[in-house]
Amino acid sequence: MTIPTTTLPSGTAVPVLGQGTWYMGEDSRDRAREVAALRLGLDLGMTLIDTAEMYAEGGAEEVVGEAIAGRRDDVFLVSKVLPMNASRRGTIAACERSLKRLRTDRIDLYLLHWRGSPDFAETIGAFETLMREGKIARWGVSNLDLQDMEELMDTPGGEGVQTNQLLYNLTRRGIEHDLQPWCRARGIPVMAYSPIEQGRMLRHPELRRIAERHGATPAQVGLAWLLRQDGVIAIPKASDPAHVRDNRAAADLRLDGQDLADLDRAFPPPRGPRPLEML
Ligand SMILES: NC(=O)c1ccc[n+]([C@@H]2O[C@H](COP(=O)([O-])OP(=O)(O)OC[C@H]3O[C@@H](n4cnc5c(N)ncnc54)[C@H](OP(=O)(O)O)[C@@H]3O)[C@@H](O)[C@H]2O)c1
Repeated sequence: MTIPTTTLPSGTAVPVLGQGTWYMGEDSRDRAREVAALRLGLDLGMTLIDTAEMYAEGGAEEVVGEAIAGRRDDVFLVSKVLPMNASRRGTIAACERSLKRLRTDRIDLYLLHWRGSPDFAETIGAFETLMREGKIARWGVSNLDLQDMEELMDTPGGEGVQTNQLLYNLTRRGIEHDLQPWCRARGIPVMAYSPIEQGRMLRHPELRRIAERHGATPAQVGLAWLLRQDGVIAIPKASDPAHVRDNRAAADLRLDGQDLADLDRAFPPPRGPRPLEML
């Protein structure tokens, strides 16, 4: 089975299951393993790769550059600019540095990593310049709460936003109250980061019980729970090839009504607005 896709506001279809890269590129002794894990993920159809200039201070982008060498056209590449670089000139310079490390001439989706002091107008202006120059194909944001999103939309060009990448998993459901419905109503997919809570949620007894019922792993249940929803893209990070295979198979796991009810009891949805959580 192929991995289902979701459609960005631009009309581009992207796979709902991709690969994260935080903590890759930290130690050169792990590099070959990390490159191999990403390549395995690409072979299995997880062709969306998420990285950032922040990760290992550019080291993760270098790992990605090596992993996608010779197969750039098969990959949907996401990277991010740090808020401290997100001025008009700073964004353009940061993007050019990222392109060098990624060894490519374009980023498919370039995100503002979180909100900083530059006005949205400056960053959007830089994103639009980068798009005209062909250095990025489209842009989005990360870690913006509802108020930020409304302000973004009121900024000229703000309607060009393609995604909001957010902390979202069974143990972090706050966005379900208002931010996720707001994004869904506008056709803006949410990219769920830390989709298995960096492994911390995997020992939860209810999650284990449901996993056993399906002959699956807790990580697969957590990912399948995200992926059953329209407009959600999950980007688990895995350097272990067994984890890569495990995560890929989550796209084929179907949870039933009983599973979803049990998960709601164990991981209750928000009852009211909550401040946006981030890692
Ligand atoms: N925009 C933002 O502010 C932001 C913040 C955080 C993360 N992100 C992005 O989202 C990506 C994912 O989030 P994350 O890396 O924080 O956490 P995560 O994907 O929830 O968890 C990664 C951890 O879980 C382990 N793991 C992966 N698959 C597993 C499986 N099937 N079974 C058991 N363990 C498994 C990995 O181990 P191994 O590596 O040993 O396989 C790693 O230790 C990041 O890599 C990054 O690209 C973005």
